Amino acid sequence: MAAVILYGTETGTGELVADAIADVLAADHDPSIYDMAEFAAEDLDPADFLVVVCSTYGEGELPSSALPFADELDEEEPDLSGLRFAVFGLGDSVYGDTYNRGGEIMAGKLTALGAVQVGEHFRHDASSTVKPTKVAAEWAESLPALIDEA
Ligand SMILES: Cc1cc2nc3c(=O)[nH]c(=O)nc-3n(C[C@H](O)[C@H](O)[C@H](O)COP(=O)(O)O)c2cc1C
Repeated sequence: MAAVILYGTETGTGELVADAIADVLAADHDPSIYDMAEFAAEDLDPADFLVVVCSTYGEGELPSSALPFADELDEEEPDLSGLRFAVFGLGDSVYGDTYNRGGEIMAGKLTALGAVQVGEHFRHDASSTVKPTKVAAEWAESLPALIDEA
C-alpha cells in the first residue's frame, strides 16, 4: 500500500515535517507528498494510506494552504469509506484552548466523511524544545505497521 502525505502549512514547518515522514516511508511505501493547496479532494483514494500534517493558525483555524482542500471536502462531501489516515498536528501551547486545533479539524472532516483515523494523533508544540522534523521521523516509524495492517 502506498502512502500519500498531505501537508497544510502557513510558514513551511509542515512541509519540512512531511519531508521527514516521507524519508522514513521511502524504503517500502512509495510516498508521494502534496501541499493540500495542490491536491483535489476527489483524488483521495482508499487504496492509499493518508498521512495528514497540519498546523494551526488564526484562533485555532486551519493554515491557509489547507483551506481550499478543506472547502472541497465540505462542498463535495466525497465518500471516504475505507480510507485510513494518521495525523501529525502542529501548534503552540501558548495559544491555550486552540492548541493544535488545525490537525484536529482536518481529522474531524475526514472522519465525518467515513475515513478512519489510526495510530497516535501527534501534537507538536512549537513552545517545546522538541524539533518537529526529528519527532516526526520518530513518529513515522510507527506508520509502516499501520499501513501494512490493511
Ligand atoms: C499568527 C499565528 C497564529 C497561530 N495560532 C495558533 C493557534 O491558534 N493554535 C496553535 O496551537 N498554534 C497556533 N500557532 C502556532 C503554529 O501552528 C506553529 O508555530 C506551527 O509550528 C507552524 O507550522 P507551519 O509553519 O507549518 O504553519 C499560530 C502561529 C501564528 C504565527
